[in-house]
Amino acid sequence: MQKGYFGQFGGMFVPELLMPPLLEIEEAMNTIVPSEAFQAEFKALLEDYVGRPSALYRCPNLSKRLGFNLWLKREDLNHTGAHKINNALGQGLLCRHMGKQVLLAETGAGMHGVATATAAAMLGLECVVYMGAEDVSRQSHNVKRMGLLGARIVPIESGTRTLKDAINAALRMWIAEQRTTHYCFGTAAGPHPFPTLVREFQSVIGREAKEQMLRKAGKLPDYVVACVGGGSNAIGAFHEFVPHGEVQLIGVEAAGTGEPGCHHSAPLNLGTPGVLHGAMSMLLQTKDGQIEPSHSIAPGLDYPGVGPEHAGLQASGRARYATVNDSQAYNAFRTLCREEGIIPALESSHAVAWALENVRSIPKKSDVLVCLSGRGDKDMGIIEEFEKNLKG
Ligand SMILES: Cc1ncc(COP(=O)(O)O)c(C=O)c1O
Repeated sequence: MQKGYFGQFGGMFVPELLMPPLLEIEEAMNTIVPSEAFQAEFKALLEDYVGRPSALYRCPNLSKRLGFNLWLKREDLNHTGAHKINNALGQGLLCRHMGKQVLLAETGAGMHGVATATAAAMLGLECVVYMGAEDVSRQSHNVKRMGLLGARIVPIESGTRTLKDAINAALRMWIAEQRTTHYCFGTAAGPHPFPTLVREFQSVIGREAKEQMLRKAGKLPDYVVACVGGGSNAIGAFHEFVPHGEVQLIGVEAAGTGEPGCHHSAPLNLGTPGVLHGAMSMLLQTKDGQIEPSHSIAPGLDYPGVGPEHAGLQASGRARYATVNDSQAYNAFRTLCREEGIIPALESSHAVAWALENVRSIPKKSDVLVCLSGRGDKDMGIIEEFEKNLKG
C-alpha cells in the first residue's frame, strides 16, 4: 500500500510550506517513537500520570435488562477525563524529543485542548489552543480548565465557528511557527502522518481491552463499538481487533436531530469522497466541493470529515458505520446515569446508544464492548438546554 494511504484514502494534500514539518514528524514517528527509551517513558506516564490501564467494566444492571453483556472500556476514568490524554502525552513527548518548545492544538469539545494543555504543563512546554467561538461558549467549563493549566486560547470566528474552522486556523499558524512549534493534532484525521501517529498512541485502548476481555470473559468481544468524530477513540479501540475477523467493528456517527435534511456529522454514511485538512477521506460537501456545515449535540462529533483509515475500513467492509441521533444519544446518556451510576460524555453516549437501540438484533449473551471515550461533566450546560427545549 502507498505510504499514508488506507485504500484510496489518506495522503498529504497540503501546501508545500507544510511538507517540511510533516516529514519531520514522519521521521520522528519512524525513529523516535519505536525506540525503547521513548516507549518506556510513554508507558510510565500512561501508568503513573494517566492511571492506565483504564478499567474494563461489565454493566451489571443493563446487561441483565438487555440480555447481552455490555462492557465499557472506561477511558472516562483517565486523568483529564477522556481518551484524548493518551495522544496528547505521546505527541507532547515527541515534541520535546524533536527539540520544539510549543504545543499547538485545535479542539472541539475542549477535551483535546485540556489534554494538550495538561501535557504541556507537565512537560514544561508552552501551549496554544485554537477553538471555534461557538465551541468556546458551549464548552466553557473546559475553556476555564485550559486557562488554569496555562494555555493561551484563541477563539476562531470564521465559518461555523466550530472544529473545522479551528483546524484551518491552526494549520495556518503552524506554517509560520513550524520551527518552534509542534502541531499536536487531536484526532486520527489530517494529512499523513497524523492518522497513523494518533492511532499509534490511541491503540493502547484496544490492546488493553483485548487482554482484559480474554481475562474476564475468556473470549474476544463479539462487537467493538465506538463513536466517530475524527475517529481517534474508534481507531484506537478497533486496531487490535482488525485481524480478528469474527469481531464486528461498529463506528457510530452523529445523525444530528435526525429530521430529514437536518445538519449532521455522518460523512461515512452520508458524505462523498474529497479532500479536507490535507487528506482524502469521506466528507460532507456540496456537488462542487464546498464543505457543508455539520451538527451534533456532542461537540466532539461535530466535524464534516473523518479520519481516512475509517473510510478505508468502510470501503473494505471490515468495519460498519451506523448513525445515532441527538435524542437517542441523550436517552443513552440518561440511561447510563440512572442505571449504572456513570455520567458519560455526549460523544460516548452515541456509542452506548447504538447498543441500546440494537437490542433486538444483537444475539442474546453476546459480548458488546463499548469504548466510553470520556466523562460528561463538560456537557452539563448542553444537557440543561436540551431538557429545557424538551419541556418547552
Ligand atoms: C469524550 C470524547 N469522545 C469522542 C470524541 C471524538 O473524537 P474522536 O473521534 O477523535 O475520538 C471527542 C472529541 O472531542 C471527545 O471529547
